[in-house]
Amino acid sequence: MAPPYGPDERGALDGQGDGVPALPTAELHVHLEGTLEPELAVALAARNRTPLRYAGLDELRQAYAFSDLQSFLDLYYELSAVLRTPEDFADLAHAYFARAAAQGVRHAEVFVDPQAHTSRGVPLEVVMAGLGEAFRTAEQRHGLTARAIVCFLRDRDPAEAEALVPQLLPYRDVIVGVGLDSAEVGRPPELFERAYALAADAGLHRVAHAGEEGPPAYVESALDGLGAERIDHGIRSLEDASLVARLREEQVPLTVCPLSNVALRCVDRMADHPLRRMLDAGLLVSVHSDDPAYFGGYLHDNVTAVTRALGLTAGQRRTLAENSFRASFLPEAEKQRHLKAVAAAAGAPA
Ligand code: HPA
Ligand code: ZN
Repeated sequence: MAPPYGPDERGALDGQGDGVPALPTAELHVHLEGTLEPELAVALAARNRTPLRYAGLDELRQAYAFSDLQSFLDLYYELSAVLRTPEDFADLAHAYFARAAAQGVRHAEVFVDPQAHTSRGVPLEVVMAGLGEAFRTAEQRHGLTARAIVCFLRDRDPAEAEALVPQLLPYRDVIVGVGLDSAEVGRPPELFERAYALAADAGLHRVAHAGEEGPPAYVESALDGLGAERIDHGIRSLEDASLVARLREEQVPLTVCPLSNVALRCVDRMADHPLRRMLDAGLLVSVHSDDPAYFGGYLHDNVTAVTRALGLTAGQRRTLAENSFRASFLPEAEKQRHLKAVAAAAGAPA
């Protein structure tokens, strides 16, 4: 079933009261585990009789103050441990798809961290049983198409990543590619060259987090050593003029997450965010939500925040939405269909 793109729906998207209309967009940088809202974490902890160390929701919410990537990852992995059954993963994915669809997302390529679960005794089969159900029914239930990108945890042994690749192959209908996430500094992409070569041989797409906290050199080695087709974050690329020239020339997609960058103090204030400079430099950037349950908003909340802080024009927001589909792993005909929908929603001739 094709997602609906009728005028009624466009009106509904416009009617969010924030003055910044939501455009049809592809979400390319969201971590499934990062969509675990505190309320759902508490509910799943109770359902699975795995108590959290917080007395209640209010106390848990106090923990959402981060000083850097690691301080966030500590809470992210702690709360991810409430996910134990296929139903938990399916409930999490359905809750995310519903929220994403309400913010204009029409296609989502969602990161998932199997090692965060297998390392604590939850088998890959359990994770994929839940995700399989939710991802296969996303279009029918929520009006968006969904695929998974399995991330290797870069702070764990690369041999684990290499062993994971063949285990992904039974789920090729859901899994579209591999990525690289978790603590970046001191864990350069080249550690994962072999895992990425195995993934490429298996016909999987390749993306990688680079240049979030790590240096511009990590962006280069993600491109050259891993064959990354997109760079997640990449904001520190701006520190290296020759890298910027290359990213522009090759039109390497960069998936930028403004609320995340401020919450993890990669950027001091939203007004200092480099997104506009990246657009002005001719880079193929798009805006995404990273870990929306932790950083204060989903995809359109990010677009709104950055629009307000940087004064983005309607034309720039249209470019961001178009870039999201261009950078996606959708078949060309699907990309064109979505680009027409962006044009229609943006009010210009298709
Ligand atoms: N950066 C790196 N790893 C992650 C993130 C992030 O923002 N979210 C979940 N894993
Ligand atoms: Zn991320």
